Amino acid sequence: MKAKGLSPEGEQKHAALLTNSAAVQAIVAAVEGTMGPKGLDTMLVDRFGEVVITSAGVTILEKMQVTHPAARMLIKVAKAQQEEIGDGTTTATLMAGTLIAEGVNHVVRGVPVARVIEGMRIGIQRALESLQRRSRPIDSLDSPLLERVAYISGREHADIAALVVRAARLIGSEKLKERSFKLADTIRAEAGVGNEVFMGVIVSKGRLNKQMPPFVTDARILVLDDALEPEGIEEEALATESGFKKYLELQADFQGYVRKIVDLGVTVCLLDRGMHDLAEEMLTDAGVLVISRVASHELQKVCDHTGAKAVKRTALRRSREELSRCLGEAHECYEDESLRQVRFLGGVGKPMATVAVGAATAEIVGERERIAKDAASSLQAAVRGGYVPGGGAVEIALAKDVERQRDLTKGMAAYGVDCVIAALRRSLAQIVQNAGFNPLEKVEDVSALQLSLGSDSVAINCDTGEAADMLALGVVDPTLVKLHAIKAAGEVALAILRIDTIIKMTDIEG
Ligand SMILES: Nc1ncnc2c1ncn2[C@@H]1O[C@H](COP(=O)(O)OP(=O)(O)OP(=O)(O)O)[C@@H](O)[C@H]1O
Ligand SMILES: [Mg+2]
Repeated sequence: MKAKGLSPEGEQKHAALLTNSAAVQAIVAAVEGTMGPKGLDTMLVDRFGEVVITSAGVTILEKMQVTHPAARMLIKVAKAQQEEIGDGTTTATLMAGTLIAEGVNHVVRGVPVARVIEGMRIGIQRALESLQRRSRPIDSLDSPLLERVAYISGREHADIAALVVRAARLIGSEKLKERSFKLADTIRAEAGVGNEVFMGVIVSKGRLNKQMPPFVTDARILVLDDALEPEGIEEEALATESGFKKYLELQADFQGYVRKIVDLGVTVCLLDRGMHDLAEEMLTDAGVLVISRVASHELQKVCDHTGAKAVKRTALRRSREELSRCLGEAHECYEDESLRQVRFLGGVGKPMATVAVGAATAEIVGERERIAKDAASSLQAAVRGGYVPGGGAVEIALAKDVERQRDLTKGMAAYGVDCVIAALRRSLAQIVQNAGFNPLEKVEDVSALQLSLGSDSVAINCDTGEAADMLALGVVDPTLVKLHAIKAAGEVALAILRIDTIIKMTDIEG
């Protein structure tokens, strides 16, 4: 009889775990250098020479060509973190990487996977509870903390932070707390434009022709989720007398519909598709500003902001009263010719802000936009769920809380709890390492200092390498970003460890 740990199945089992862990570590290695204020950017180049410069973990992971299933799972986590909460993808990836590496170490040393998983669950649960307890609320949008949150997650771009805060204040906290509203969706970056925030939305198309007015005040807006063309008639039918008569009738009907648009007092008309020449002529004569072939998400924004209800062209048959209820209103609507876009300001529907982030060159437009979106998401997360000390400080405090839990955990599950402690310490370690200091030394220093001061906000000032209070430095993170990061890291680590067990079970059976 073979000893359990030395059987070929056992070795193979470890080999599989080690392969998965190695694949995950390769992903971690791709993003760890970007973490924190001294993190560096990564330049991604595709085979056509197209360049993306970024320090956003999720962007790097999205663009990497990865085939290993375990590595892909990790990338999925970063994407989910980005979609759910908009920031903290590097933190989540690093934590997951540490959980997996540590977990696999214990398993290789003979701790059963089930015990490691059990302990990880306990540790993560504890970390999440103590994070909630340590969260501080943001009482009002006037709080200077908002600017700090936006500044920290916006990689210390003060101009972007200020823009995003202005947008948040214009929009108001009620709207920011709505689950379906994403402040990050209001961000647009463009090359060569100045920074700007305004209450309104942009359609990135110009007016249909130059005879139409570029500027309309007190606009009455019709949104057609359709083309504005007469109903078609079959070629063959057109050759018959009755068919031709029908054609003329349809043309007359169509003219009637277009006239109805004018009579209703519509001054701006947006279409999802194209417009018939006849309609263009009539609407131009009537001084209506028409924008055709507008992207559907932009049509939706205009509808939301101006209170318009998008209709199909068949709706033009409805009575005037009925139709006029579908019109939207905006205080001002004007075309910026150089940018080929039309802006709608002061709509009577939902308040919406657009944050236009200028960038000098096309290459950095994308990165400026990502930074502004990170800042906006974080700010919104902080309004919703409060904030905690940043710079890896709160994670060290959580690690301490989880250590206490470890002492209460019986048997080998304690090794699983250890993995969580290591993962929580990883944030500070990486931030410090990227700033050029010794992570082992600094993590120990900070842990000891937090304990002696009874504080959860001590970490390292990345400029000096000295211990410092993150709240005093204004380094804060939204609680929800951290909460999601820990949860997501835990889920993927458990999934990867568990899947390996299942693979081995089938192998053994076969
Ligand atoms: N000036 C600073 N001093 C110390 N820590 C900082 C400072 N600025 C930011 N940090 C910390 O850096 C961490 C965030 O780093 P980073 O933005 O690179 O990664 P992420 O948010 O996890 O991922 P990503 O932004 O790529 O989605 C947070 O813990 C934050 O508190
Ligand atoms: Mg970030």
